[in-house]
Amino acid sequence: MQTTKPKLVISTGAGMSAESGISTFRDAGGLWENHNVMDVASADGFARNPELVHRFYNERRRDLLKAQPNKGHLELKELEKYYDVYIITQNVDDLHERAGSSRVLHLHGELMKVRTIEEPTQVYTLDEEHLETTPDSTDAQGRHLRPHIVFFQEAVPNIERAVEWTAEADVFVVIGTSLAVYPAASLLHYVRAGVPVYYIDPNPAPVGSNVTVIRKGASEGIAELAEILGKSLQN
Ligand code: APR
Repeated sequence: MQTTKPKLVISTGAGMSAESGISTFRDAGGLWENHNVMDVASADGFARNPELVHRFYNERRRDLLKAQPNKGHLELKELEKYYDVYIITQNVDDLHERAGSSRVLHLHGELMKVRTIEEPTQVYTLDEEHLETTPDSTDAQGRHLRPHIVFFQEAVPNIERAVEWTAEADVFVVIGTSLAVYPAASLLHYVRAGVPVYYIDPNPAPVGSNVTVIRKGASEGIAELAEILGKSLQN
């Protein structure tokens, strides 16, 4: 007999990767690894100084290779035993994938990928031996490469799918985000009425009274969530 599992949709932000040693954005006072966010993560910044932006993401890739998925990432993978887990992440790291999660949608792009400027649908995955790009880097057809990152001032192509997933959730969970960046923060509005919503964050942003806040770091908070959900599964 085939049983369908409930759909658990999880929206993660920088706090999800904090325990892996990757710094969050707003906790660092508007600076991202000592750079103004708008210099290294906006369309204007890239147009103004592409060299800096390439160098910045080259460094972030080197950092990412040194990082490992943390206990929280692994716990989310474990939840797939009981739920159809859908992860919508604002993070550009690949730690959910490396932890084994099956369905991961990146809203703000992926650090280990680049795409061509001339043909944006042409995306390449970098590997350990080819981590670095410069404004002169091209593919075999001579098209210029850029980080596969959604810069501020650019559209968020995956938001539509994220909204669809959210609207189908049986349980919705937000982990480690300051809910400061739109449209990602607006996903909460698409959760159906009556669906349980949890928010795991040691320093949570203000949210509605329908949201159960678990004021803890990601790994501890997810363990607590799993207990709560386990109890509700038994009922
Ligand atoms: N576990 C869980 N949450 C944590 C932890 C932890 N160990 N440590 C910090 N946090 C929380 C903070 O309390 C904060 O609410 O993580 C959140 C991080 O917030 P931001 O730094 O604003 O990150 P995020 O919400 O993901 O930023 C959104 O902004 O600069 C852009 O594109 C970038 O995707 C990013 C977007």
